[in-house]
Amino acid sequence: MHKDVERVLISQEEIKAAVASLAAQIQKDYKNKNLLVVGLLKGSVLFVSDLIRELNLDLSIDFIVASSYYNGTESTGHVTISKDLSMDVSDKDILLVEDVVDTGVTLQAVLAHLQKKNPKSLKVCTLIDKPARRKVHLVPDYCGKELGDDFIIGYGLDFCEKYRNLGYIGVLKKSVYL
Ligand code: IMP
Ligand code: MG
Repeated sequence: MHKDVERVLISQEEIKAAVASLAAQIQKDYKNKNLLVVGLLKGSVLFVSDLIRELNLDLSIDFIVASSYYNGTESTGHVTISKDLSMDVSDKDILLVEDVVDTGVTLQAVLAHLQKKNPKSLKVCTLIDKPARRKVHLVPDYCGKELGDDFIIGYGLDFCEKYRNLGYIGVLKKSVYL
């Protein structure tokens, strides 16, 4: 375990099982669709790459980068798209893939942005949901695990751009940020 991690919340094996279960549902639902998997960078990079390898479907992938502005640790609700999709999506069924939905502010802004492009359909798949912290009404269509309000790192999730490469999801030691 990394020296800055207090405890492992979701092990590598548990992540693998959660990804397989999500992939099974998605594969069934998108059998006769024109799936475009859109990863929200950077956090979703490990999740997206594992998820698509479990999908036995004809699909395309694309990425979007959204920047949220924070007052300390709280999102201000101001979100800008710094890297947009690279293709026309009017004939696509978009599945937006996110690492964690926290307040929901970022996702709400990205969904509004994508909806303006008039895709055939638009749904959300998140590995982690923290519903207790939600500030806007948003329920992910697919969710791997629900957690409380711990700040988590690993498997794509960062604190100050570190720890994204950990294979598991853990809670950061308070001494690292206090
Ligand atoms: P929201 O707009 O508050 O829902 O924030 C979503 C984004 O904040 C996620 O895409 C993550 O990048 C980041 N985030 C939220 N909670 C955590 C966490 O516990 N660890 C690391 N990043 C987080
Ligand atoms: Mg993110």
